Amino acid sequence: MVPAHAAAFLILLGASGCSFGTNDAVPRPPPSLARVSESEAADRRRHTTLLVIPLDQGELLAVEGAKHERRFNMATTSTSHLRMIFVTGLQNVHAVEHQALSLIDRQLDRLVRYPEVAERLRLHRTETQVQIRRLDDIMGSLGERSSSLKDMALSFMGNLAAMGHVAAPDEVIKNQLVNAAFENYEIASYTSLIALAEAGAFPTATALLRETLGEEVAMAAWVQDSLPDLTRKYVALRAGGGGASH
Ligand SMILES: [Fe+2]
Repeated sequence: MVPAHAAAFLILLGASGCSFGTNDAVPRPPPSLARVSESEAADRRRHTTLLVIPLDQGELLAVEGAKHERRFNMATTSTSHLRMIFVTGLQNVHAVEHQALSLIDRQLDRLVRYPEVAERLRLHRTETQVQIRRLDDIMGSLGERSSSLKDMALSFMGNLAAMGHVAAPDEVIKNQLVNAAFENYEIASYTSLIALAEAGAFPTATALLRETLGEEVAMAAWVQDSLPDLTRKYVALRAGGGGASH
């Protein structure tokens, strides 16, 4: 059994376990950074390789020790590179949504005394299924698909997190705290994905992701707003001597 207080950490650890990028297996010393002019960059380039990032007002950020010399900005980033990062992000969020389904289902399995929570969770479960379909559609339009392995791993983490609260007398409160953390994690994830979709000029994806982001924002707001009443109800049920945990 997972200790109740560890569940929120566990669930976010699981969600963040999927990287947006690819790992570089060869460790390299950290590169040095410096603001330079064009002429200084040209001078340094005689002695070392540079990654050069344009800044405002004609300044450049030179990264010495970069593996390959190149100029970097969104306009010159290769479409395939951006696309790869975007697809990895989509797969990760797809897995996060499967984690959300498990988390919601385990709560719905047990909620008895809090029908108002169950009702909103049911609604968000339906939204989550639509969100997964949107991600599938976006990946399908790019000729890609979700990762079954990531989906399964994070689904397991979602089950584990909710089950970790089963023995807690304030199970419903603990689960709502995890819901708050989780919804805000999703908001951050979709915000990042939208930035990638805009950078990569994937307009259909941007529109679909914005729809989902709106639903996550609404759910996060509901979770936050529900906490005072939910807490008072829990306290009243405890004071009444009956069951109050779920
Ligand atoms: Fe959500």
